[in-house]
Amino acid sequence: MNDIILGSCPTSSLPTKVNPSNPDTIPKFSDELPRPILAKPCKKVDGYDYYEIEMRAAYHSFHKNFPRTSIWGYNGLYPGPTIEVNKDETILVKWINNLPEKHFLPVDLTLHGAIDSPEVRTVVHLHGANVAPDSDGHPNAWFTKNYQYTGSTFAREVYKYTNHQQGTTLWYHDHAVGITRLNVYAGLAGFYLIRDKMEERLELPQGRYEIPIMIQDKSFNEDGSLFYPDAPPFPVDVKPSVIPAFNGNTIVVNGKVWPYLNVEPRKYRFRLLNGSNTNAYELKFENDLEFYQIGTDGGFLEQSVKVTSILLEPAERADIIVDFSNYFGQRIVLQNTLDQGLHTGVIMQFRVELPLRGKDNSKIPDKIYHIHRLKEEMAAQVRELTLSANTDEFGRPMLLLDNKMWSDPVTETPAYDTIEVWNIVNLTAFPHPIHVHLVQFLILDRRPFDIEKYQDTGEIIYTGPPIPPAEYENGWKDTVRAEAGMVTRIIMHFKDHAGDYVWHCHILEHEDHDMMRPMRVIKP
Ligand code: C2O
Ligand code: CU
Ligand code: CU
Repeated sequence: MNDIILGSCPTSSLPTKVNPSNPDTIPKFSDELPRPILAKPCKKVDGYDYYEIEMRAAYHSFHKNFPRTSIWGYNGLYPGPTIEVNKDETILVKWINNLPEKHFLPVDLTLHGAIDSPEVRTVVHLHGANVAPDSDGHPNAWFTKNYQYTGSTFAREVYKYTNHQQGTTLWYHDHAVGITRLNVYAGLAGFYLIRDKMEERLELPQGRYEIPIMIQDKSFNEDGSLFYPDAPPFPVDVKPSVIPAFNGNTIVVNGKVWPYLNVEPRKYRFRLLNGSNTNAYELKFENDLEFYQIGTDGGFLEQSVKVTSILLEPAERADIIVDFSNYFGQRIVLQNTLDQGLHTGVIMQFRVELPLRGKDNSKIPDKIYHIHRLKEEMAAQVRELTLSANTDEFGRPMLLLDNKMWSDPVTETPAYDTIEVWNIVNLTAFPHPIHVHLVQFLILDRRPFDIEKYQDTGEIIYTGPPIPPAEYENGWKDTVRAEAGMVTRIIMHFKDHAGDYVWHCHILEHEDHDMMRPMRVIKP
């Protein structure tokens, strides 16, 4: 890291002029963390709350010393407005594309779905939702402004979310084939919270003491505009070209670069989301403050787990409670310990400087509920699915699922109302966050195996015992860290809906470059 050149007194050597492209010049903790605003339904349709949310270009202030930045946002906001619903209460959302015809980020026309498609296309996926296929936001269900052009699986303008699942933290984001990484990076992401009765009983911190936190990394040009590379760090004939990974040089939380949050000395509930393109974070307070995880992607854990850090791959969520009551007067930085850099190792700062408004009656639950665990013996199908490196027709590295391209015929075809176990065999050198649409799954275990043997013989020779999931990920998940050199096993029940969905790596640069596969749930 070139952070070293600043020596030991980074603040005293700060140049006076802020250059958004140079993190050394960007003062940290100068903007307060915003709370994403709540979406409001505009009317009732068929007795359901009906929302209209418009994707449009807008200006956004990432930092008080930056010029305004062009973004694309839901209702022009970044993050998008938070949709809050009750379990089992259906809502309707019309997602409207009012974006310009040209993208402001470098579009690679060689990627799947990009050739012969309008440059700017969008489709909204509600990540983690139990939803019918025509409202899932399938990558080919994209549409352009006024629905003038639509993709091959486009079926309806108004999406129906039945919210038939546990209370939890979901998020919605763009999913258009071949440009998901650019659309999400441009700002198209927001929270979707489902509330339920169990949550009410737990007496968790709520209202002003419950805050969703979306972490993304970004880079900026000198003029404050968003920077995204148009070529990988190795020679290629394609330009603009997709890159194998994106690593921003700043951290943006709820739309602000390295914000701070004023808090009272009491308990807070934070809904953490890693909304980054590629980056994983291991979140830890600089003073080793212990906190409690109460929920995962798809709902509450069986019991709260005391932790000092949480690992979040892209798209993973953690529902946590932090008790600041012993820290009045202190300023505590939340760090990313996967990154030792002076800049991207820093997420945000909590200032325990607000006076306590009243007695904190909220609770940290101990036992929460009993998860009805799916058993391996119940599985109708066990699939072995590899993650592997390959090369595309332009000589670029490409990662594949099951050694197949996005365009290859569907092979993951679970039967409706059956249970399946998927063995995700990671043959690559790094972890990938694997996400399956429609379902919430449980992690069975991860087990190391001999990669070289596998490459020679196609046989899995285990080199160690299975490792059960960590306590904090032992609940309902829709995205799992598939470790390098391990077989990660997940179990899920394909119930409620049948039809066309997808599964993919949630590193968006991988997803857009064929690390995505169709999935079809088949009704007899
Ligand atoms: Cu969050 Cu298919 O994605
Ligand atoms: Cu999803
Ligand atoms: Cu990947």
